Amino acid sequence: MADIRTLPDAETAPEAPPAPVHATIRREDYRPPDWLVPEIALDFALDADVTRVRSRLTVERNGAHDRPLRLDGDELTPLNVLANGQDVAWRMEGPQLVVDIEGDRADLETEVEINPAQNTKLMGLYASGGMLCTQCEAEGFRRITFFPDRPDVLSRYRVRMDADEQRFPILLTNGNELASGKGEHGRHWAEWEDPFPKPSYLFALVAGDLKPNRDTFTTMSGRKVDLAIWVREADLPKTGHAMASLKAAMAWDEKVYGREYDLDQFNIVAVSDFNMGAMENKGLNVFNSRYILADPEIATDADFDAIAAVVAHEYFHNWSGNRVTCRDWFQLSLKEGFTVFRDQSFSADMGSAAVKRIEDVRVLRMAQFPEDSGPLAHPVRPDSYIEISNFYTATVYNKGAELIRMFHTVLGPEKFRAGTDLYFDRHDGEAATCDDFVKALEDASGVDLSAFKIWYSQAGTPQVDARIDYDADTGTALLKLGQRVAPTPGQPSKAPMPIPLRTALLGEASGAEIASEQLILLDRPEQTVRFEGLDEAPLLSINRGFSAPVVVRAKRKGDELERLAQSDADPFARYEAMQELAFEALLAGARGEAVDAEPLIRAAGNTLRSNELDPAFKAEAILLPTEAVIAERMDVVDPDAIHSSREHLRHALGSALMDDLAKAQAADAGSGADLSPLAKGTRRLRSVSLGLIAGADQARAAGLAKAQFDVADNMTDRQGALSVLVSLDAPEREAALTAFYERFHEDALVLDKWFALQAAAQRTDTLDQVLTLAAHREFTIANPNRLRALAGTFGVNHWAFNGADGRGYAFLADMIVAADKLNPQVAARLVPPFGRWRRFEPKRSALMRSQLERIMNTPGLSRDVFEQVSKSLA
Ligand code: ARG
Ligand code: ZN
Repeated sequence: MADIRTLPDAETAPEAPPAPVHATIRREDYRPPDWLVPEIALDFALDADVTRVRSRLTVERNGAHDRPLRLDGDELTPLNVLANGQDVAWRMEGPQLVVDIEGDRADLETEVEINPAQNTKLMGLYASGGMLCTQCEAEGFRRITFFPDRPDVLSRYRVRMDADEQRFPILLTNGNELASGKGEHGRHWAEWEDPFPKPSYLFALVAGDLKPNRDTFTTMSGRKVDLAIWVREADLPKTGHAMASLKAAMAWDEKVYGREYDLDQFNIVAVSDFNMGAMENKGLNVFNSRYILADPEIATDADFDAIAAVVAHEYFHNWSGNRVTCRDWFQLSLKEGFTVFRDQSFSADMGSAAVKRIEDVRVLRMAQFPEDSGPLAHPVRPDSYIEISNFYTATVYNKGAELIRMFHTVLGPEKFRAGTDLYFDRHDGEAATCDDFVKALEDASGVDLSAFKIWYSQAGTPQVDARIDYDADTGTALLKLGQRVAPTPGQPSKAPMPIPLRTALLGEASGAEIASEQLILLDRPEQTVRFEGLDEAPLLSINRGFSAPVVVRAKRKGDELERLAQSDADPFARYEAMQELAFEALLAGARGEAVDAEPLIRAAGNTLRSNELDPAFKAEAILLPTEAVIAERMDVVDPDAIHSSREHLRHALGSALMDDLAKAQAADAGSGADLSPLAKGTRRLRSVSLGLIAGADQARAAGLAKAQFDVADNMTDRQGALSVLVSLDAPEREAALTAFYERFHEDALVLDKWFALQAAAQRTDTLDQVLTLAAHREFTIANPNRLRALAGTFGVNHWAFNGADGRGYAFLADMIVAADKLNPQVAARLVPPFGRWRRFEPKRSALMRSQLERIMNTPGLSRDVFEQVSKSLA
């Protein structure tokens, strides 16, 4: 009832019906904003405990209406509200500040106090490691000041910051600095202006004791940009790779998309408490420190690659996201899908495109396919949400990127580029929609893409069935294709989708391409494609390069996969054939049928011994599908059966190929500082081989792993060795874990690895170890990276999490409930493993469900966790 005092008519007004606690927001309800805010001036008196925020908005009535001005707030209490410098009547309606404005334009001033130190949600302005920083996407700005906090309200920002100079010597915000100076009582101030109108989610502010790694970049039109990566002084030596990646990304975006940077400075700040990976705030990107800090001693090759990808991703948002932003949050994939596609293309150009494509597809299959087949399935452009933070998903990001990739495939690079040029040109400075993007591609290319729009609206992964019938007498082959999409929540029946399949035929005898690659567009439920003039029986090479994000089930001849694994000229198709060979053996084993591992053993042996293939490809090709991915292919999931099937296959592969694997494991990659594709690939193959050796001979693997660990001059070899050792019962395990801890425990990012490695262990006592780690004095649920390292990793450890006694479920549920009280966004991200409950054998299914119900019945559940849990139960 606290707000009643602010309601002038509270005594007489009829009681408004209570708003539903967790309302659903719908895309179809979109309405343009009632009020625009062309200008905003912010004045921050910064302090960790009490920060005072004064804001002055220039508000303009948008269209002819008489609705009041409504400003979003979250945990804010107005201390003062003035319109045109005068007191004005205002009221709170829920969290919103409502003001009746006379006329069509006004200056609206508000003042609030916020407490960054107590902001455990890490949304809005918060304290991290002695500094102050912000995260506003999606709806964090309303935790800083009252504002129409929606992406289609674009404003020009002017920001004044005032802080204690000793504690916060560096003050940063978006745009360019105009002036700075000293104040009284040891305080100083700075005033900045961002010339580009932007939505509030792109606002950022950082205050702290930071040091810069400075560099410059000259743009294609000859403008010099000052670059700086701001970190704690001790971390400066670890910023080189991020800076090199930034400059490479800036050059790449000019070359490939014609996009140039537009401000005089570009700042990046690394913070250790961050909900997500990084944030593209205009001119001031804020990063989770794990995507900035690296040197070969503490970061793996995969970490280096991830840093380059995320730095590029956030930089690319300057055009795909900032210059052209999103009309509403349902359009999130407009910026995220496109930007992921852009960062994937960048990484492909910087290294091996084939290996990058395999990695991207592996991520899609591990993270997005399960999402698409479970209770949290949603379209790339969702129709509704309860909490938008729950929609920063693999579907919006990675499937969204696949959609853009299909446009690229169908149009070809030139027309695609013409389309993006038109898109940027047409919508610069606007808040656009996914439809606008497609329209620009169509208008520039002259190609009708309307059929493809169903990829935005229809959830679920299509399954394509393929079989080929060959008539030797006529030299004709008929490729019979069919497609179907299983129902998803809210979408019981599905329409056919346009599926672009890069397809070729190889000769069964010669292995040569007998029908060269063509792009088949499967857009009906069933379709037949005819091939003529074939003088030998064909093998089917389909969905090359993973041209469509679908599951292909092809009817194969006896040794067809083995032949494809050996001779397909498309590296992805070759990898895929290996994966399918592995699946055949793994699924047979999991069903308790006889397993013929020989075809896979022969194919893996040939791969390992090949002189043409590079080591990174070999490593990908011999890596077995994870247990969770195997589970996706089972009607009823029995984690023990899957685990033992996979262990048997590892044993078979390991023993049959021991010599080849030992040779690969012993290969010399040179210095750990050598980050060339060859050196990285050699290290990767070394650790993947070690894993298969361990499948066959634990004692031998323990010895090799410990030796690899001890002599390593880089984190890749060290972590690779440890990731094998953690699952072994050998004295080397404890010795290496202890040595790792002793050496690195003061480095938070490396300590995260120590927690994660143990949570990923394949052993019967993993849960007990995880429980012990949860009580470790260096474990905390308040730091998202640490929580994800332990609880997040455990949740995707298929065999351990799904232990038959249900204790794994209880542990994760406990973590979710505890984390929800501090940081709902991060807590909600731990829920998805529970969403598989319907797929499991009855006992586990019931145990999972009862944990979901326990979470559901927790009083005071956040909107974030409520949405994920209630949808998981539905
Ligand atoms: N836009 C950021 C990125 O992908 C992610 C920010 C997500 N923030 C959030 N609170 N969900 O680059
Ligand atoms: Zn992004």
